[in-house]
Amino acid sequence: MERTFLMIKPDGVGRNLIGAIVSRIEQKGLKIVGAKLMTVSEELAKTHYGEHSERPFFGELVDFITSGPVFAMVLEGENVVEVGRTLVGKTNPAESAPGTIRGDYGMTVGKNIIHGSDSVASAEKEIALWFKKEELIDYSLVNSSWVY
Ligand code: PPS
Repeated sequence: MERTFLMIKPDGVGRNLIGAIVSRIEQKGLKIVGAKLMTVSEELAKTHYGEHSERPFFGELVDFITSGPVFAMVLEGENVVEVGRTLVGKTNPAESAPGTIRGDYGMTVGKNIIHGSDSVASAEKEIALWFKKEELIDYSLVNSSWVY
């Protein structure tokens, strides 16, 4: 079963949106196999966003993601990387459709509420970076014949 990494950023946590966002994930039928509220070190932020290190907003991005707690999650399900990206919406909240998390709650490109892995390969990399193996739990959901 595929897994993906989602992280509610400091603006989402600071605006009390954890419950609303987790609710959408659960209602969609995705399974949360790992979750934690945590602060992000500069080292972790720089590694996570390493591919953007040459972009002009890199410093701003690292400052933002380390500015307050984030809520990190691992989700499991069929095709969950793509499903997760669809729930999250486009990078720029202004272009993100209503009904998506960024479309409904996002303000600016820099402060766009949530991160979601953009491919199966980055999901694997990001899950390994943010979670220890023992923090990910194998279990069955009630009524699991209808959800993952
Ligand atoms: S993506 O998702 O990789 O296609 O989007 P991209 O445009 O390449 O942006 C990568 C991440 O950088 C963030 N970003 C910014 N932060 C601050 N200021 C500006 N101007 C800016 N532009 C992009 C964007 O939110 C992406 O973060 P994540 O967490 O991956 O969504």
